Amino acid sequence: MNQASLHKLIPQTEKDAKKLFELRLATNLTLIQKQFFSLYTEEHHEKDFQKLLKLLPKLFEERPDHLKKQDLERINAANWYQSEKLMGMQLYVEHFNKDLKGLQEKIPYFKKLGINFLHLMPITTRPKGESDGGYAVNSYLEVDKKYGSKENLLELTKAFRKNGIYLMLDFVVNHTSDEFSWAKKAKKGDKKYQGYYYTYEDFTIPAEFEKTLPEVFPETSPGNFTYIPEMEKWVMTVFNSYQWDLNYTNPEVFLEMLTNLVKLTDMGVDVVRFDALAFLWKKIGTISQNLPEAHNLISLFRMCLQVVAPGSILLAEAIVAPTDIVKYFGEEEKRGNECEIAYNASLMALLWNSIATKKTQLLYKSLMHVPPKPQDCTWINYIRCHDDIGLGYENHLIQELGWNPEMHRKFLLDYYCQRLDWSPATGLLFMYNPKTGDGRITGSAASLLGLEKAIKTKNEALLEESVKKIVLLQGITLAFGGIPLIYAGDEIGTLNDYSFQNDASKKGDSRWVNRPMQDWETITKLDKEVSPQSRIFHTLQRLIKIRKENSVFADHNNLELYHTGNDHVFSFERPEDQKGLLVICNFDENPQVIDSAWIKKLGYFSKGEPLDLVSGEKVGLNSALLELMPYQMLWLMKS
Ligand code: GLC
Repeated sequence: MNQASLHKLIPQTEKDAKKLFELRLATNLTLIQKQFFSLYTEEHHEKDFQKLLKLLPKLFEERPDHLKKQDLERINAANWYQSEKLMGMQLYVEHFNKDLKGLQEKIPYFKKLGINFLHLMPITTRPKGESDGGYAVNSYLEVDKKYGSKENLLELTKAFRKNGIYLMLDFVVNHTSDEFSWAKKAKKGDKKYQGYYYTYEDFTIPAEFEKTLPEVFPETSPGNFTYIPEMEKWVMTVFNSYQWDLNYTNPEVFLEMLTNLVKLTDMGVDVVRFDALAFLWKKIGTISQNLPEAHNLISLFRMCLQVVAPGSILLAEAIVAPTDIVKYFGEEEKRGNECEIAYNASLMALLWNSIATKKTQLLYKSLMHVPPKPQDCTWINYIRCHDDIGLGYENHLIQELGWNPEMHRKFLLDYYCQRLDWSPATGLLFMYNPKTGDGRITGSAASLLGLEKAIKTKNEALLEESVKKIVLLQGITLAFGGIPLIYAGDEIGTLNDYSFQNDASKKGDSRWVNRPMQDWETITKLDKEVSPQSRIFHTLQRLIKIRKENSVFADHNNLELYHTGNDHVFSFERPEDQKGLLVICNFDENPQVIDSAWIKKLGYFSKGEPLDLVSGEKVGLNSALLELMPYQMLWLMKS
């Protein structure tokens, strides 16, 4: 049972917020204690545990009253994050409309498209120059001047609440920047703060770590340690050299970070994106990702948050192997007690594989291979985010299809990164590692799906195909079960932005190519002109509306995959009592047919021809076969 379910059992008659907090604490205490002492031995850390017990009531005391009230409403409501009514967008505030105020002015735009869940990329202070897009944090709570002030943020969250918009912000839990106050003190020789990071006198221990640690940014930041001359020490920097990994073997770090986490939610944040959480625990001799201690730590954060601020939930940013991702929902006694939401990075990467190969076998194989998620948890389904697309498929599944995993990955990189003349995709190669042959892909959804090439070569057929592919992929994320998240600009088919190549602080990081400025000029013309951009926008707007109006789209853990017998086609059902939604997608550039007997058996033709919600037309059968046009997506409704 997850904590939310547990808390629902706490007497509904009790109305006093403080008493309810105490009840929540009492209910969770055994598990909190267990996780704490699993990380920090009881023998040496009893005092630290006492500190935690003092901290929790203090954090609760400081939580704003209106949020305490909202917490109770959320506990009593059903799992809001599994609702069909949610539709998300991710954006960089400065690329969208200048700053927080500018963003607030655009609430009508979100409403027009149907967006009511926003992930704002980091907005706190960061080093000048390179900052990994703000993922090198100088503070967890102080709003960077370029976005406005803390007051602007509080105003924004108030306006969001009034307009029914949920807010997600990052908690960069794995590392700080080298300018963070702790790092600065460490550099000055303060031993206490040197102990907040993994610091070493010489390279002996780092060398041991390096034997098994992979490299995250091999091109720009090879290795996992950086020498800091001021300190005369090495510090662990798994990401960029200016991002110092926090040392969670030190309980002080946990206590301080818990405080930062709760304070973040106190600003009105509904979902906290736990950034790079797979990396939270390090151990020599391992790749230091997905370690059991990392899971215990996440669960500890989660349970403390549930006690103090139960209305806020966690999203796992774990871009790891499919079978490892689901573990961030919590397993065994931690089941449902880590993160409520996780990125469906597997679906994302597999969809790009299906576009390039025009085949769906790997998609089916991999999805069937993933263990089921807990009842109360859900996915964020997306096709693009601000990061690169990694090719994290399971090798043995590629092999089962008779393909060579290395060659297959090379084909995908060639297909997307402009190494094949016939490919419609215009992507860039990211972090190619000649030592391993691994590489990743960057590019906006529209450019990767052929729109850029179609416009450049004035190829009408390619343009048509590209629009259909965009609708197909976005449509799958709307129907799959979970929160669909669209990257700002993708709703109007925004192309790659190459301007990063002229900016010294960005040019080493091609992920900036898929972080374009919001194109307001195009947006003002959407209702006036017919263009590929307006077609994409209006189709998505309509599909989002359909999703919100039909409860079959909610995530009831009811996803059924169906093999159609045609390798170009992907089909899944979202059954709900007597109702249901059957999604059928053609990933091929040619029309395809599938047998219809199984669809009839599922009851989709029992009341005559079913309605396809995408086209708004009934679907008839001329023979026993159902025909799908190139890149067509059907949403068949059973009512
Ligand atoms: C996450 C972010 C990515 C960032 C990294 C380090 O993976 O999505 O943009 O580079 O964490 O903070």
